[in-house]
Amino acid sequence: MSTSISTKFKIEKVAKSRFPEVDFENLLFGRVFTDHMFECDYVDGEWRNPTIKPYQPLTLEPSTSVFHYGQAVFEGMKAYKDDDGQVWMFRPDQNQQRINKSSKRLAIPEFPKEWFFEALNRLLVMDSQWVRKGMGNVVYIRPFVFATQPAIMAAPSTTYKFMIILSPVKSYFRGEVSVVVAEHFSRAANGGVGAAKAAGNYAGQFYPTNLAMEDGYQQVIWTDDTTHEHLEEAGTMNVFFRINDTLITAPVSDRILDGVTRKSLIDMAKHEGIPVEVRKIKVQEIVDAAEKGELKEVFGAGTAVTVSPVKSFSYKGKDYPISVPEQSYSALLKKRLLDLQYNIAPDPFGWRYKVSEENYQ
Ligand SMILES: Cc1ncc(COP(=O)(O)O)c(C=O)c1O
Repeated sequence: MSTSISTKFKIEKVAKSRFPEVDFENLLFGRVFTDHMFECDYVDGEWRNPTIKPYQPLTLEPSTSVFHYGQAVFEGMKAYKDDDGQVWMFRPDQNQQRINKSSKRLAIPEFPKEWFFEALNRLLVMDSQWVRKGMGNVVYIRPFVFATQPAIMAAPSTTYKFMIILSPVKSYFRGEVSVVVAEHFSRAANGGVGAAKAAGNYAGQFYPTNLAMEDGYQQVIWTDDTTHEHLEEAGTMNVFFRINDTLITAPVSDRILDGVTRKSLIDMAKHEGIPVEVRKIKVQEIVDAAEKGELKEVFGAGTAVTVSPVKSFSYKGKDYPISVPEQSYSALLKKRLLDLQYNIAPDPFGWRYKVSEENYQ
């Protein structure tokens, strides 16, 4: 869908920052938001009035189309502060491309790239005190777009709202996770919206994940919808398996989200000389490897969790514990990734993005 630009950014600043009131040591993920947000409306075939304003509620009619037909997509990114106080992002170009790819799949008009970056830079410059120094402190960035037409009619909306909100967070999962391999439910189907970051993909996972949690697991590893024989991805993470010394992850498809962390870890692992295979993985292969003591590691990879080690997986009612060797790939890759994101180590890949006023002046 074509987009056009009609005006310049409007900026409204908060009268008084909420920053001093926040207990940063006890942050729950995604519950606290910074002072400002970005908002932009699609009306009459164009994106209009890009605005940064104080974080505040929206007023929407009950008939607003997103409530009924779920025409909504989103992104998840992070901002990091180095010891000199400079704020960085990690490969934001990938998220910019992916939100437009997701939008296209949901018949939502694409959002202009220049405005995406201008909004991110402006917000993070204005709210830079919320990005705190120190490993583990980050601001989670949530761009999202949704249908706003007040009409209960199953058709694409004629109006949309694109927004970005920022949430200071600490780590997502505490400790290692136990997962269950899906045998009945599916996250995505061939030709469906699995590869898009569509809001409904997540709603569809909540019920099966709740069932898994009732049994003491934290996450479901989804399998292919046809045979349930191939391992795909988890709730908000792509998944890696280490059999002996080889790192294996499933190829992306129209059922699997093309994760930025996943593709970065593949490149970083290769850079470290780790043998990497991107190929279909049968659940049986992992079960066999676990039984032979050859399954050394399983870990999830995603923006929110970074790298999340899995301590056991369950399949057909049996638990398979994983004892991670001392020379852990997940620990090494997590360290390399975080050092790069926090500007502690050199960036041989050119992935670090400097947040700056220069990007919009
Ligand atoms: C379904 C799903 N898979 C994988 C990921 C990991 O993607 P990324 O590394 O880009 O955050 C996410 C999180 O965005 C996700 O929601």
